[in-house]
Amino acid sequence: MGKVYLVGAGPGAADLLTLRAARLLERADIVFHDALVQPDTLALAKAARFVDVGKRYGKVSPEQRFINRALVEAARAHEVVVRLKGGDPMMFGRAQEEIDALAEAGIECEVVPGVTAALAAAATLRVSLTKRGVSRNVAFVTARRAPGQPENVWLDAASSADTVALYMAGWQSAEIAAALIGAGRPATTPAVLVESASLPGERRVKTTLGGLLRGQPLRGQDQRPELDFKGPVLLAIGEVFARANAQDLRFEEPARATG
Ligand SMILES: C[S@@+](CC[C@H](N)C(=O)[O-])C[C@H]1O[C@@H](n2cnc3c(N)ncnc32)[C@H](O)[C@@H]1O
Repeated sequence: MGKVYLVGAGPGAADLLTLRAARLLERADIVFHDALVQPDTLALAKAARFVDVGKRYGKVSPEQRFINRALVEAARAHEVVVRLKGGDPMMFGRAQEEIDALAEAGIECEVVPGVTAALAAAATLRVSLTKRGVSRNVAFVTARRAPGQPENVWLDAASSADTVALYMAGWQSAEIAAALIGAGRPATTPAVLVESASLPGERRVKTTLGGLLRGQPLRGQDQRPELDFKGPVLLAIGEVFARANAQDLRFEEPARATG
């Protein structure tokens, strides 16, 4: 019986992997990987067979039950099974379902942490998520919910935390901004969007909650090209981002009707 390693691949750049992750990839017999894992990282697993189990937004993706079963079967046939997940496995990665399925099948499992997207974004923005006198707490949040799941309570956490890191938020940023302003957060609160942190296509743009509302029209309307994203996007909100290392986007107030 083999062992399954749930390994964090970090935000993308292969040299942000932990040494433990790199060594496990070298030893891996089979690697089940997410869509966001980069070719440079996969190249470290020289002897492994690869199975792409990535979930892609808006596309047909392997069901979680299939992935759980495939991990159990792989551990019965191989010594070193790596389940490679973007960022950190324990953050918005459905790791618990895999851990539980492996435990139920009596298969040994170990988790290797990785750099989660919010921390990679903080690094490239050169902004500390906590700052004396400004931010003493950080919420890691997603506003996304799967069909049939209960109403998300993200707004409670996001409206009360000093600093908020929103995952899977790129296409929802106007709705998120509207909800936060409605919950009492000032429209002047700094907001940054970091696309593909640590990768060659990285982009960092800075605005405010009010700017997000003006810059990314609600669903069904034209997208501002500055906010047209191709890669994964982390939305970060809070006063700490006032001087973030990012391109400043100023969206004008819509022209008022005169006469
Ligand atoms: C399904 S979640 C997985 C999060 C991952 N487990 C982590 O710890 O970063 C995918 C979301 O993570 C964020 N993300 C992942 N990689 C990113 C990157 N390189 N730059 C910006 N955001 C990223 C985006 O918000 C994306 O929609």
